[in-house]
Amino acid sequence: MGAVTLQNPAEIKIDYAVERIREDFPILRELIHGKPLVYLDNAATTQKPRQVLNALTAYYEHDNANIHRGVYLLSERATKFHEDARKKVQKFLNAARPEEIIFTRNSTEAINLVAQSYGRKNFSAGDEVIISAIEHHANIVPWQMICEERGAVLRVIPVDDRGDLILEAYEEMLSEHTKFVALTHMSNALGTVTPVKKMIEMAHSVGAPILIDGSQAAYHMSVDLQALDCDFYAITGHKLYGPTGIGVLYGKRDLLNEMPPYQGGGDMILSVTFEKTTYNDLPFKFEAGTPDISGAIGLGAAIDFIQSTGIEKMAAHEKSILDYATPRLQEIPGLRLIGTSKSKASVLSFVLGDIHPHDVGTILDQDGIAIRTGHHCAQPVMRRYNIPATARASLACYNTFDEIDVLVKGIHKVLEVMG
Ligand code: ALA
Repeated sequence: MGAVTLQNPAEIKIDYAVERIREDFPILRELIHGKPLVYLDNAATTQKPRQVLNALTAYYEHDNANIHRGVYLLSERATKFHEDARKKVQKFLNAARPEEIIFTRNSTEAINLVAQSYGRKNFSAGDEVIISAIEHHANIVPWQMICEERGAVLRVIPVDDRGDLILEAYEEMLSEHTKFVALTHMSNALGTVTPVKKMIEMAHSVGAPILIDGSQAAYHMSVDLQALDCDFYAITGHKLYGPTGIGVLYGKRDLLNEMPPYQGGGDMILSVTFEKTTYNDLPFKFEAGTPDISGAIGLGAAIDFIQSTGIEKMAAHEKSILDYATPRLQEIPGLRLIGTSKSKASVLSFVLGDIHPHDVGTILDQDGIAIRTGHHCAQPVMRRYNIPATARASLACYNTFDEIDVLVKGIHKVLEVMG
């Protein structure tokens, strides 16, 4: 099927074969309560294309063996595919070296690794660690834990009513006491895309390393780690059209080399005696135990899938859907969007009068519409806007304008049922 030209009422035209792309996602043909699935919970996890599913099956049918330790062909093959996946991630994120790509379970583990390894070694009483008010719990709690342990102070960049971070406050916070900055690239609860390039430069101006949580951003925009020059970057495979259970920590080689291991076990050692263990080189020093081999291979296949379409095209398509959806949602009586930054991607978080978001989600589900409701693992964001929860629709490369129409109709139905 050739590319179709979609035209939305904002008169944005994009050559984008969305129907062809949808064919790659078998789950999109599911019926939910007898209705076609309208999957709008992509910020929680994306669906998986056939290319990823096939790569997982092919690995287990033809190549399954443990890696890095076998002298036989299957093990060599599994090792090669695992390490090829690392190189795919490296190229996708434009990291300088494959050994700067550490496989983890998810971005949460990637952030915990840095907090527990870098933080425990480098933070001491009176040091300051800066995060922002729009972080996911995964980029708050690990820093709280290590700050408490080391006597360091956690400081929080505030956010304005639209969902933009207040950079003047960040500038004032930065000082010789700043030992680390950890910042989201894109808020899962609001959709705000933060000005990371500038904020990385600002952290570096006081000599502080900075970690960027790219869990939400990496599947909505191209990420160039060498251009960004951040010290650490965390991603999770399952939001990137890949499997659950695989994530990535990128770290600059010199920093990773200076950091102690996060976990002990197999693969991360060079030699072990009861007196002393010497550690393996990067990246294996941080990959204790048998890794998620199929997960890494599946993530590699997901990256191939993204690159075959082009992340910029995907992002432009999603933006046109977001631009189409935003005014249509705002027209609905009683609907208030939470998160209206001009720098925003994919996310439509909203409250609907005094109807509880869980009721919104449950009624929409009856029409096959999957959205997320709750605090989205970002309770401080909810508190900032004085709400307990939101209903959140979030977009990915396969969503369509028609699905937004179904969502809008569904929300009107919620109003009828609950009104
Ligand atoms: N962090 C994921 C979300 O935003 C699960 O829904």
